[in-house]
Amino acid sequence: MILWRVRIEKTRRLHGLVFDFVLLAVLAASFMPSTVAGEEKCLVCHSAATPRGQAPGVDTAALALSVHSTLSCLECHQVSGDQPHKGQRGVGCGKCHGQAMAGYNVSPHVKGRDLDPASAPDCATCHGSHEILAVDDPAAPTNHKNSVAVCTKCHEDEHLKEEFDMIPDPDMIRAYESSVHGVALLAKEDMRAPSCVDCHGSHSFKPSDDPDSPVFKSHIAETCGKCHAQIAAEYTESVHGSMLAKGILESPTCTNCHGEHDIKPSEDPRSKVFASNIPVTCNACHSSETIVGKFGLKADRIATFKESFHGVAVELGETRAANCASCHGVHNIYPHTDPRSLVHKDNIQATCGVCHEGLPEDFARGTFHASATDKSSGGQFYVRQFYIWFISILIVAFVLYRILEYKRRVKRVE
Ligand code: HEC
Ligand code: HEC
Ligand code: HEC
Ligand code: HEC
Ligand code: HEC
Ligand code: HEC
Ligand code: HEC
Ligand code: HEC
Ligand code: HEC
Ligand code: HEC
Ligand code: HEC
Repeated sequence: MILWRVRIEKTRRLHGLVFDFVLLAVLAASFMPSTVAGEEKCLVCHSAATPRGQAPGVDTAALALSVHSTLSCLECHQVSGDQPHKGQRGVGCGKCHGQAMAGYNVSPHVKGRDLDPASAPDCATCHGSHEILAVDDPAAPTNHKNSVAVCTKCHEDEHLKEEFDMIPDPDMIRAYESSVHGVALLAKEDMRAPSCVDCHGSHSFKPSDDPDSPVFKSHIAETCGKCHAQIAAEYTESVHGSMLAKGILESPTCTNCHGEHDIKPSEDPRSKVFASNIPVTCNACHSSETIVGKFGLKADRIATFKESFHGVAVELGETRAANCASCHGVHNIYPHTDPRSLVHKDNIQATCGVCHEGLPEDFARGTFHASATDKSSGGQFYVRQFYIWFISILIVAFVLYRILEYKRRVKRVE
């Protein structure tokens, strides 16, 4: 009997303890920081394993592995779990990432969303939502190599081209993949090679006609120069670089001679700077009447080059013969009167000597780009004039001879 009472007493105490514990837990919960309470509240309905009703499940495991593992739901979602919150997806990433947000806010992508939110990206399109990883994590979609696919998914889409007529042709973007840069990054996994964002920046993507864009003509050398520093420095000093810096937009920058998305190694015959293509590349401007006229340049450069030994040889596919760049330099082009020019009178002997061994002293004297139709070419002009007269007189004399002979024959028949 006594034993029985003791047992009842014990059970009561046990029940009391359980009751006290539950009460304490409830009290403690109500005094805990509101964020954590909020999060638990959210997961009552949004747990991926047991979503409640229409509530979409949230992958908390991915969130825990993401850069945002320490954030609570409410730091990204301004939502009250107590009320229905359909349509409250708005995520304030900019609260913590002001710089990225500021760039994004002035991008053509924001403008594109005004027209069609589904066709232009927001933060989550490129980065993901709960699974966001650090940019230097090889698994992140925005990682150096992977980021190309993020851009090409839209920019190689023909439908998007139809919808937004201002965006460039998908073929122009596709060319990147077979360019020297695309092959290096995507096929050879050379992480030094540029992805889209190295040339365009990561968030503002300003169009090429915006003077603040990294691909605006006068910023291109600087953009390429992040990786090709020495070449960019040489170019900046040259007649082309310094004239562009003075605001002469007709002067070439890197992409006029190399292309943009289709840059090929210089030894590739498809490259704009492959030896036998160089005259065509230079002459896009140097035989263009508008440019030549505006800057008082000589318009005969291609014609005279084609007449020369070198020009004929280059035309026939001889890559060892001198092209424009062998004499003038490549990124270090100056007028021939500038002592830095490879064709300045003090340097020209050495310039020709690269290919012609054991040159006589006066080998490089005389005029280049000489046209026999121009008096300034000296000997060539007079030899040409002599032949013109000589051959003309010969023809006239021949015709005269035939006429006289004909007349004589007619006379004889009579
Ligand atoms: C780093 C910020 C961030 C945190 C932290 C975060 N979310 Fe999200 N959440 C997002 C983004 C971004 C989206 C996608 C929005 C979109 O697609 O418009 C999203 C989408 C959602 C959706 C809609 C999913 C769907 O399939 O439609 C739900 C529900 C959600 N979050 C709940 C939660 C809950 C619950 C938590 C806490 C456990 C949480 N989120 C934590 C950023 C966050
Ligand atoms: C009582 C259950 C419940 C709780 C608690 C709850 N949600 Fe929801 N939530 C839902 C349902 C249901 C939907 C789907 C609404 C719809 O599509 O009709 C939803 C949708 C969402 C969405 C997507 C909105 C959209 O329009 O796509 C987000 C984001 C979200 N919840 C975040 C949260 C966060 C953060 C919390 C915690 C503060 C939370 N929810 C708490 C039930 C709940
Ligand atoms: C069009 C795709 C795209 C959009 C939209 C986008 N990002 Fe990015 N973001 C990237 C890429 C790609 C990188 C990596 C840049 C790099 O490698 O230099 C990046 C980098 C970042 C970084 C790392 C630091 C930095 O600035 O390089 C943060 C933070 C970031 N983004 C936040 C955001 C936020 C917040 C938004 C929305 C306001 C957003 N991003 C919109 C593609 C995007
Ligand atoms: C409450 C503040 C907060 C919010 C809101 C927030 N983030 Fe972050 N984010 C952080 C912190 C903190 C880090 C970690 C920074 C670190 O590790 O250096 C981070 C890191 C990142 C990174 C990796 C940066 C890197 O250097 O690689 C990206 C990308 C990113 N956040 C994007 C987003 C996006 C997109 C959103 C909106 C969906 C968002 N964040 C919302 C605080 C926030
Ligand atoms: C979700 C699809 C989508 C993704 C992803 C995307 N873009 Fe775009 N992008 C667009 C649309 C749509 C426009 C045109 C917006 C407009 O007309 O205002 C655009 C415009 C641009 C422009 C300006 C074009 C012009 O002629 O003015 C550039 C540059 C650009 N994007 C670069 C990028 C880069 C680089 C990436 C990858 C980091 C990227 N985009 C990712 C859809 C996308
Ligand atoms: C080596 C540097 C470089 C790389 C890499 C590069 N671009 Fe470009 N991109 C340029 C230049 C320079 C222009 C400007 C062309 C012009 O002036 O017409 C341009 C133009 C564009 C334009 C048109 C913008 C406008 O306003 O005319 C889009 C869109 C674009 N690029 C997207 C991309 C995408 C997507 C990738 C990656 C697949 C990429 N680019 C890779 C240098 C680059
Ligand atoms: C992020 C760094 C980076 C940027 C930015 C960059 N490049 Fe390159 N570039 C490389 C690397 C790395 C290679 C070597 C690839 C290989 O040979 O495998 C290369 C190769 C080249 C080549 C071929 C060299 C050869 O062997 O003939 C040319 C030409 C070139 N780049 C021009 C440009 C131009 C023009 C720009 C700007 C519009 C530019 N690059 C921007 C990194 C860069
Ligand atoms: C006036 C035309 C022209 C301009 C402007 C120009 N290049 Fe070149 N570039 C050439 C030619 C021609 C070659 C080929 C030289 C050869 O075959 O040896 C070349 C070769 C190269 C090479 C590969 C050979 C090497 O020396 O490594 C790279 C990389 C390169 N250029 C980058 C650039 C960059 C970056 C810029 C802008 C800062 C630029 N180029 C501006 C004409 C130009
Ligand atoms: C995009 C057009 C363009 C291309 C391509 C171009 N040039 Fe020029 N070049 C110019 C302009 C414009 C000037 C005049 C700058 C000034 O003096 O104001 C110039 C100046 C020169 C000069 C100095 C002329 C003088 O009388 O001072 C030489 C030499 C020259 N270029 C050679 C070349 C060679 C060689 C190539 C090919 C490797 C080339 N250029 C490609 C536009 C171009
Ligand atoms: C065999 C060497 C050689 C080749 C090849 C050559 N040039 Fe010249 N070029 C010269 C010399 C030397 C001068 C200066 C004297 C003169 O005008 O004859 C000159 C002058 C010029 C000038 C006038 C600027 C100045 O410095 O007075 C331009 C522009 C020019 N060349 C462009 C070209 C172009 C474009 C090509 C290719 C189609 C080319 N050159 C091929 C040697 C060459
Ligand atoms: C890049 C190498 C190269 C450079 C630099 C060069 N040449 Fe040539 N040159 C050749 C080749 C190869 C031939 C043979 C072409 C042929 O098959 O007819 C040639 C042919 C000639 C010829 C025709 C007679 C002969 O020897 O076959 C003359 C004259 C000549 N070069 C003068 C010059 C002068 C002057 C210079 C400097 C201003 C110069 N070259 C710079 C490669 C070069």
